[in-house]
Amino acid sequence: LVNIRDLYRNKEQYLEQTVTIGGWVRSIRSSKNFGFIVVNDGTFFEPLQIVYHDALENFAAVEKLNVGAAVIVTGKLVATPQAKQPFEIQAEEVVIEGESAPDYPLQKKRHTFEYLRTISHLRPRTNTFEAVFRVRSLIAYAIHKFFQERDFVYVHTPLITGSDCEGAGEMFRVTTLDMDNLPRTEEGKVDFSKDFFGKSTNLTVSGQLNGETYAMAFKNIYTFGPTFRAENSNTTRHAAEFWMIEPEIAFADLNDDMILAESMLKYIIRYVLENAPEEMQFFNNFVDKGLIDRLTHVAESEFARVTYTEAIEILEKHNDKFDYKVSWGADLQTEHERYLTEEIFKRPVFVTDYPKEIKAFYMKLNEDGKTVAAVDCLVPGIGEIIGGSQREDDYDKLLERIKELGLNEEDYKFYLDLRKYGSARHAGFGLGFERCVMYLTGMSNIRDVVPFPRTVGNCEL
Ligand code: 4AD
Ligand code: MG
Repeated sequence: LVNIRDLYRNKEQYLEQTVTIGGWVRSIRSSKNFGFIVVNDGTFFEPLQIVYHDALENFAAVEKLNVGAAVIVTGKLVATPQAKQPFEIQAEEVVIEGESAPDYPLQKKRHTFEYLRTISHLRPRTNTFEAVFRVRSLIAYAIHKFFQERDFVYVHTPLITGSDCEGAGEMFRVTTLDMDNLPRTEEGKVDFSKDFFGKSTNLTVSGQLNGETYAMAFKNIYTFGPTFRAENSNTTRHAAEFWMIEPEIAFADLNDDMILAESMLKYIIRYVLENAPEEMQFFNNFVDKGLIDRLTHVAESEFARVTYTEAIEILEKHNDKFDYKVSWGADLQTEHERYLTEEIFKRPVFVTDYPKEIKAFYMKLNEDGKTVAAVDCLVPGIGEIIGGSQREDDYDKLLERIKELGLNEEDYKFYLDLRKYGSARHAGFGLGFERCVMYLTGMSNIRDVVPFPRTVGNCEL
């Protein structure tokens, strides 16, 4: 079998030759003694038209095929200069690999994304989702390529952990205890020492703390894996299971961190525009008008930079437009993030130096004693796409912060060790992979960029 992608890419080689392709029927139309089948094999965004005649020995069966059926077609590839597609196959043989029942849900009409979410096992066979998931795959590849070309080591951090990196308490517990008969301590609390790992464990919210240990050995590392958050936020940007890319760089500060984040995002944009032109054109035309021009511009211009304090000064002037009014000390909500990037700066923007109270324990305290060396990257249409920081590298300051927040010192011994044995300035960030896919495709709901989304109240398939 030849991939339809090959036919398009190496047209000259295949024209006037007999080829065999395998794919699924997108549409079928028949007249008295001939007909057309549009077949898509998933390898290329453009479908392929098959012409068949009653010379086929199974003409009657082919004519009755339903949309969705799997077929293997052999025939001559001929140029069709008049048509939208550059060529078609004149079928000599159509083998019916698998029939499709007449109630196939994806008939040739437009379906809403909401409806398609209810058939997540079939939606990758539609144009939009074919494009989304090929681009998702390409973005993943571009990210690895970016870091590997720069000699970063890919570290596989654990999914089951005993710690809460972000300190937000939004964890999914992992346990083998019998829920109907929980072991109890003398005080009546659940006795996790009887659990599988001899302690309470959860799915990781971030690979950062483990990642940092490898940065202190390899200098530059990145993680790329699933993370889990039991956030009770039923929004278009939150998933309970999402993927995160977390680079960590040693002998580097917040500025180096931002330079890395900016060049990574630009690299991904360029890679996808270059390697998925058909899909990007589709998004540009049908999902988000002007997407290609905007992304091209982003790849060619500088991101804006503003401190949290400056951002608050700007936003306070527009408080009448917000549901939540901001003032210094408040965390930025999506509406504020989007206002900054869409209305004020009109491009991606780094917001730095947040109040320490609203950020995680590991961030480096600034000279002012009030703010930390944190950075969020905000992009139009989404808001926060990246969260990062320079890490506290001073043993005493870090220990003080751990105590101040009432964290269990014993759990962070390994983390403190990094500050005890050859502590080095270091920084890193987390890119939300799904938000990145949304940004590049213009898709506006995170549920439509994850193959099988998990969100509050939803864990289908
Ligand atoms: O800002 P966050 O919480 O940062 C961290 O986890 C750090 N440990 C990263 C680091 O410095 N190594 O999360 C990072 C990014 C966010 O900017 C967002 O894009 C994404 O992860 N994210 C989510 N994406 C989808 N659904 C959720 N529930 C998300 N929570 C965070
Ligand atoms: Mg964040």
